[in-house]
Amino acid sequence: MVSGPLTEEQLLNMLDRSRLPKHVAVIMDGNGRWARDRGLPRISGHRAGIEATRRVIEDCRSLGIKILTLFAFSVENWKRPKSEVSALMDLLKKYLRGETHKLIENDIRFKAIGRINGLSDSVQKEITMATQRTKNGKEMMLNVALNYSGRIEIIDAINKIIGDVQGGRLERDKITEEVFSRYLYTESLPDPDLLIRTSGEERISNFLLWQTAYAEFFVTSVYWPDFRRYHLLEALVDYQKRKRRFGGL
Ligand code: FPP
Repeated sequence: MVSGPLTEEQLLNMLDRSRLPKHVAVIMDGNGRWARDRGLPRISGHRAGIEATRRVIEDCRSLGIKILTLFAFSVENWKRPKSEVSALMDLLKKYLRGETHKLIENDIRFKAIGRINGLSDSVQKEITMATQRTKNGKEMMLNVALNYSGRIEIIDAINKIIGDVQGGRLERDKITEEVFSRYLYTESLPDPDLLIRTSGEERISNFLLWQTAYAEFFVTSVYWPDFRRYHLLEALVDYQKRKRRFGGL
């Protein structure tokens, strides 16, 4: 018998729709290497990365994933050449301006997570518009991490907690894990069940440090622009084979 890689159809048949992860997070990595391998400028990789982003949103939505969180721009990414940073910001603005109507049509709610006030006014304006216009989305929540750092998110939460304790809105002996979680950018959302990272790197890179405590990690070697529904299905099927014990037996 000849056996090779599974086909997309086989993966789809293997997927148990009743046990999908509720929250999927993705570290979209490898745009630069994808472009380099083709002798193209890095920005072409990011442009192709946007296409992959569009696809993964559509695919998660149609499969029935309820929360999708994408790592688009980290606090550390400001260290990149100015031209690359501004090209990324332009792509983001264009995406938000051009695609918000599709999010609305698909009943998807958009939210930016990170230090949003550290982004330019024009980016903030697009974010505010998209957030406002999609606020009634019920089928899927799309979080995009922008100017994001997991450590800074924890510091921001601590500062908010201090403010609430000092202002008498929170008692200091009432700070449980659950309470703390609500002060994070992800607020009341459940933690990611599955974290996907592309381009073969096996690092968390300061993404959702608190929230990924028990996430299942799936690394694929494909670069982000090459990520297709096939790879998403691979990750979901693999996830369903795991035994999640959360530290128990
Ligand atoms: C990682 O590739 C990718 C990024 C830093 C940017 C990811 C952003 C997008 C794909 C656009 C997202 C846009 C929206 C609208 C959500 P890299 O440049 O680190 O690749 P490399 O490691 O190969 O250099």
